[in-house]
Amino acid sequence: MNEKLKVGILGGTGMVGQRFISLLENHPWFEVTTIAASPRSAGKTYEDAVGDRWKMDTPMPEVVKKIVVMNVNEVEKVASEVDFVFSAVDMTKDEIKAIEEAYAKTETPVVSNNSAHRWTPDVPMVVPEINPEHMNVIEFQRKRLGTTRGFIAVKPNCSIQSYAPVLTAWKEFEPYEVVATTYQAISGAGKTFKDWPEMVGNIIPYIGGEEEKSEKEPLRIWGKIEDGVIKPADGPVITTQCIRVPVLNGHTSAVFVKFKKQPTKEQLIEKLVNFRGVPQELELPSAPKQFIQYLEEDNRPQVTLDVNYENGMGVSVGRLREDTVYDWKFVGLSHNTVRGAAGGAVLCAELLKAQGYITKK
Ligand SMILES: NC(=O)c1ccc[n+]([C@@H]2O[C@H](COP(=O)([O-])OP(=O)(O)OC[C@H]3O[C@@H](n4cnc5c(N)ncnc54)[C@H](OP(=O)(O)O)[C@@H]3O)[C@@H](O)[C@H]2O)c1
Repeated sequence: MNEKLKVGILGGTGMVGQRFISLLENHPWFEVTTIAASPRSAGKTYEDAVGDRWKMDTPMPEVVKKIVVMNVNEVEKVASEVDFVFSAVDMTKDEIKAIEEAYAKTETPVVSNNSAHRWTPDVPMVVPEINPEHMNVIEFQRKRLGTTRGFIAVKPNCSIQSYAPVLTAWKEFEPYEVVATTYQAISGAGKTFKDWPEMVGNIIPYIGGEEEKSEKEPLRIWGKIEDGVIKPADGPVITTQCIRVPVLNGHTSAVFVKFKKQPTKEQLIEKLVNFRGVPQELELPSAPKQFIQYLEEDNRPQVTLDVNYENGMGVSVGRLREDTVYDWKFVGLSHNTVRGAAGGAVLCAELLKAQGYITKK
C-alpha cells in the first residue's frame, strides 16, 4: 500500500480516544490526521486539550501533540479531512446515534466503540474472529442511508470478550445454558485509581446496563443476516452478574456452561487453542497470532500476568474443570480497553479495509 488511510478520532481526548491514538501510532495502514472532541477542546492543540488527562502508560505520540482539535459537531468540516473515523465520543445515546449517522451520510465510514448503534438492525456488530460475514449487512444499511461509501460498524461490549469467543470455539458441543459473573476493571468506566479513589480495596456490585449487554450481545454476534438485517440467535441462554473490582485494566469472567453434546476436557482445550478466524488467515496487522491461550496452572489467568497477552488482543482461559451442577466451568480474561474497546475497533477497521468497505476517498 502506497499511502495510508487518513483517520479521524471522534472523542480523541477521552480515555478510549487516547487508546485509539496510542494503538494507531506507527500503524501500517492508518494514520491519525484529525482529532475531534467537544467544543471545550476545539481550537486547542491536542496536547493542551488533554492536559493532565493523559491516561495511557506510554507517552503521548509526538505526531499528534500539535494537531489542532476540531469540534465533533462540525461534521462536514471534520469529514472532509479523513477517509474514515473511529468514534469514542461520550454524549447521550440519541446524540451519538445522530452524529454517527451524520458522519456516515457524508460518505465517511464510522467504526464505533459506542453502544448507541449496537441494536440498529442493519449495523454490523463484529468480533472479527467470530462474525466477519456480518459486514455484508453494510450494503443494506447503505441503501437505507442513501450512501455509496458511508456506513456505521460497531464492536460489542467489553464484558463479553472473555467468554463469547470461548463459547464460539465450543459451538459444535452445543452450549445451551451459560452463567457468567464478570469482574470488571475501573478503566471500563473511563477511570483510573487517581480519579476513582473510592475503588481502592472496594467492590461495587452494579454496573449500569452491563448485565443486559453481557447476556444479549453474544446472541446478536451469533446471529444471521436475513432480509437485510441481523437476526439474533436464539441461544444459548446467558445469565450474568457484572461486578466492578479494584483492577485497572482487564475484565475477568467466571463461567458455567451446560452442553447438549458432552465434550472431554481435552476436546475443549483443543478447540480453544486451535480457534482461528479471518484476522489470523489474513494476518491483519492487529490480529493476535494465537487468539485464545489455555493456561494449565491453577492460579491463572491472572490480571497482572496475562492481561497483555498478544498485546491485549488475545483471550486467556484457565481453571477448566467439570462442575457438579453445570457441565463445565472456566475462568476467562481479556483486556477491556484493548480487545474490549479501541483494539477491537481497530481490528474491525482492518477487516473492513481488507473486505473493501473502507477505501481512500
Ligand atoms: N472506557 C472504556 O473502557 C469504554 C469501553 C467501551 C465503551 N466506552 C464508551 O466509549 C465512549 C467514550 O468513553 P471514554 O471512557 O473514553 O469517555 P471520556 O474519557 O469521558 O471521553 C469522552 C470524549 O467525548 C468527548 N465529549 C464529551 N461530551 C461531548 C459533547 N457534548 N460533544 C462532543 N464531544 C463530547 C470528550 O471531549 P472533551 O475532552 O472535549 O470533553 C472526550 O473526547 C463512551 O460512550 C463510553 O460509554 C468506554
